[in-house]
Amino acid sequence: MTLQFEYSDLLEPDQARQFGLILDRCFGSPSGKGVEYIDRVGYENFRVIEQAGQVAGGLAVLKMAQWFGGHCVPMAGIAGVGIAPEYRGSGAAIELLQATLQELYDRGIPISMLYPATQYLYRKVGYEQAGVFCKWEIQTSSIQIKERNLPIQPISLPSCDQGDQSFGEFDRIYRQQAKITNGHLDRHPSIWREAIEPSSKDSINYAYLFGDRSNPSGYLIFSQPRSGNSYNIQIRDLVLLNAESIKRFWSFMADHRSQASKVQWRHSIVDLLTLTLAEQPAIITESIRWMLRIVDVVKALELRGYPQGLETELHFEIADDLLPPNHGKFVLNVANGKGEIIKGGKGELKLHVRGLSPLYTGLFTPQQLQLTNHLEATENALLTATKLFAGAIPWTQDFF
Ligand SMILES: CC(C)(COP(=O)(O)OP(=O)(O)OC[C@H]1O[C@@H](n2cnc3c(N)ncnc32)[C@H](O)[C@@H]1OP(=O)(O)O)[C@@H](O)C(=O)NCCC(=O)NCCS
Repeated sequence: MTLQFEYSDLLEPDQARQFGLILDRCFGSPSGKGVEYIDRVGYENFRVIEQAGQVAGGLAVLKMAQWFGGHCVPMAGIAGVGIAPEYRGSGAAIELLQATLQELYDRGIPISMLYPATQYLYRKVGYEQAGVFCKWEIQTSSIQIKERNLPIQPISLPSCDQGDQSFGEFDRIYRQQAKITNGHLDRHPSIWREAIEPSSKDSINYAYLFGDRSNPSGYLIFSQPRSGNSYNIQIRDLVLLNAESIKRFWSFMADHRSQASKVQWRHSIVDLLTLTLAEQPAIITESIRWMLRIVDVVKALELRGYPQGLETELHFEIADDLLPPNHGKFVLNVANGKGEIIKGGKGELKLHVRGLSPLYTGLFTPQQLQLTNHLEATENALLTATKLFAGAIPWTQDFF
């Protein structure tokens, strides 16, 4: 393929200004928001494509990690993908994404995640649906939980000027949930800032810790945006590590019912918080599946965790036309919760690298993937894959 564009870091202030304007156009934002976004995420995290010295488009690469099977796998979050309207329709986005994926492979980053505005584009470069992000809502009057035994105490939120370490206390609690939840992120500082900083000048965020101050069993950060004559409770971040804190959370939310209409939060499509409620009054108001690209098959399969007590091997045959080292046969040997890859083998589970994403995260079972032509496997390989990748639906409450 002849390359039409030059791919580079965002090195010059003029490139940042140009790409900022493109982002404003792309996302219909007020003037200046694009440059503000670049500033917030950090110049060094952007890549652009240029033609004859003009920026045609770009994206942000957020260096994070994601938990799968109890292990934290380095991950690049792709955000702010934007091509100036006059360059669209000629393969600019594809070229930008291909160059980015090659760079991620070269940097040794095994997986990449994003929220798609269109799946078609991202599927072309090997991303596939891999997990869920859902917005939930409940009327405060329908919660009806009154258990207030567990202490809950207000704490002040750090100012984000205190640097990236300022959310350390929250991060320690968050990690306990993340470790046992497939799909949770090891968050980029800009995601922490999003949770902690008020969304506008006249908005306030409140924070509470659950349980023992020295060893909390959860935290809650929320704002109270007005809605007509009342307000809603909008949860910005929430971690609850045991049944007592879940009950205390609900009773605390219900205690706002004389003025607050609804509680809005983000969770999995099957939300375990609602298992504690007497009835089923909570509804999903928005749901999107995030996509994952396995950038480096060997590293990705070796770095995720597997069920303890399982000693087995799975023979893959993978097709990847974009990143050739991923193409071919691999044997995954699993013991003591860890995986090791050797090249070769019998290729008993055949799939395109795209189909590997929902298998890897556990969004769909191997049988479901076979039924939808995402993989082809022997009975034995299907059984082994089912045991290796079993788990609850992967989810995150973080959008970027
Ligand atoms: C989405 C966007 C990045 C695509 O840029 P582009 O340079 O026009 O895309 P390409 O020309 O590389 O298109 C590659 C393929 O994706 C398809 N495609 C592009 N935009 C699409 C869309 N919105 N919906 C469905 N398919 C789309 C193209 O038809 C092409 O497929 P083909 O080769 O089979 O014809 C661009 O329209 C844009 O910046 N939009 C506004 C911001 C945005 O929505 N960003 C995505 C955030 S996740």
